[in-house]
Amino acid sequence: MNTTQQILTRLRHGGRAELSELVALLKAQGEDCNLIYEAADRMRQEQMGPEVFLRGIIEFSNICKNRCLYCGISIKNKDVKRYRMSDDEIINTAHNATKWGCGTVVLQSGEDPNFSTDQMCTLLRRIKAETGLAVTLSIGIQPRFDLVKLQEAGCDRYLLRFETSHSESFAKIHPDESFERRGQCLQDLRELGFQVGSGFMIGLPGATLEMIAQDILYTTQLKLDMIGCGPFLSHPGTELADEPLLDDISVYYKTIALVRLLNPRAHIPATTAFDALEADGRNNILTRGANIFMPNLTPGKYRVFYQLYPNKPCVDEDGAACAMCVRGRLASLNRPLGSGPGHSILNKAKGKSRLAGSCPSVKGLT
Ligand code: 5AD
Ligand code: FES
Repeated sequence: MNTTQQILTRLRHGGRAELSELVALLKAQGEDCNLIYEAADRMRQEQMGPEVFLRGIIEFSNICKNRCLYCGISIKNKDVKRYRMSDDEIINTAHNATKWGCGTVVLQSGEDPNFSTDQMCTLLRRIKAETGLAVTLSIGIQPRFDLVKLQEAGCDRYLLRFETSHSESFAKIHPDESFERRGQCLQDLRELGFQVGSGFMIGLPGATLEMIAQDILYTTQLKLDMIGCGPFLSHPGTELADEPLLDDISVYYKTIALVRLLNPRAHIPATTAFDALEADGRNNILTRGANIFMPNLTPGKYRVFYQLYPNKPCVDEDGAACAMCVRGRLASLNRPLGSGPGHSILNKAKGKSRLAGSCPSVKGLT
């Protein structure tokens, strides 16, 4: 048994990995690389089953008050036409989500200061009453008392990526935020009993393999219900334009595979950025650890204005096309569509996921 096989065998049996071992795996090539993918796929099959759950994403506002250096809809990008969908448009799109086989709708936006918590609560109540869908919010950092209101209005899950666990890098690319505040919001979400999703961008400028390995370990430390990670892709309208991709594209894929191996029972989406990285990127990820697909349900007329990164797929499509497309993908991969909301399985007994144990201190790993 070579070293790669030894580490993978340990991980497959619930063992831990040292940082240096993860770095070695991130460097693996050829047959060793395939062994990592196969181990992750097997782990996904054993722990999560063959089903792929659909979470339909509605990008309901591209208005954002922040200046994150990497983000195509940051307030600094004056070339973007701003939009905010009306409540009725959002509700109609949520109804479409049920028609198209999604058990969950994900409402995502920039940090739009004019979209009040009360308005969001009204929307949540309507979506829950009219569709019964599970609802995930991805609307940035919120104070704890607003999270309480959102939860009371029916919000089941919340997505807030930590982006990088390296606190100095975090500070460089987030002029409006601190790593501690984001960590506090993640901790609030978990204490309140939300199903919590987080994750990071793979290959941010200056990221070394050690830093990527630290990010992978950090996902485990946070004991997440969902882990969404995708390649960093430099957007021409941002300060990080022209930053190159990693030399070795397989690092992006191995990262997801390792996230699966270290988080056997987390939901892991095949994130859209993988399709922007290369054709079939999302299909590849579904065979390397992922079990969630997030079809874009945003009405066609808005999509072109919600480009966090370039080459985003499907900007010329509409929700129906994306919903059809996903069926073709799953059929080609021989994977069945999951039915129902696809809630977290980390703490099934409690119904709504409540992450066990005390929250690890959310500190930067510098
Ligand atoms: N490249 C890749 N991912 C990006 N995101 C934002 N901008 C980019 C980019 N340029 C990701 C962030 C954010 C999520 C909604 O999209 O991780 O949390
Ligand atoms: Fe909108 Fe970062 S640019 S939250």
